[in-house]
Amino acid sequence: MDDELLRAATAVRAHAYVPYSRFAVGAALRGASGAVYAGCNVENAAYPEGTCAEAGAIAAMVAAGETRILAALVIADSPVPVSPCGGCRQKLAEFAPPEVPVTLCTTRGEVAETTVGALLPGAFDKGQMPT
Ligand code: THU
Repeated sequence: MDDELLRAATAVRAHAYVPYSRFAVGAALRGASGAVYAGCNVENAAYPEGTCAEAGAIAAMVAAGETRILAALVIADSPVPVSPCGGCRQKLAEFAPPEVPVTLCTTRGEVAETTVGALLPGAFDKGQMPT
């Protein structure tokens, strides 16, 4: 596990805006440059407009000019290591090949290691669109 990602995701989780679910999530990514990007979930009174922690971290990475993820980590106070939603799996797959490691954590120290490919086998990607 990448301890710097754990620290970044834990720190940003404290800023999660979760008045509706009360379920705070932190995510951190390592970009190809080596830099770390973090994001938390940001909910909205119009529930479907809320955004996941992973989406925030990806937006921060892209805003910084990077488009390649080397590793990802997600943390929440969940009974089992928190699992990215389907939409976030697709978002991660846009910027990470299948072998990229994804670490799923609880705040109580439970950790599960997986990969982008294991989370979303058969992902739709740009190679499937006509050129
Ligand atoms: N959530 C995330 O931010 N990331 C995940 O991996 C799982 C779910 C958020 C969305 C919503 O704000 C809250 O957790 C409950 O679904």
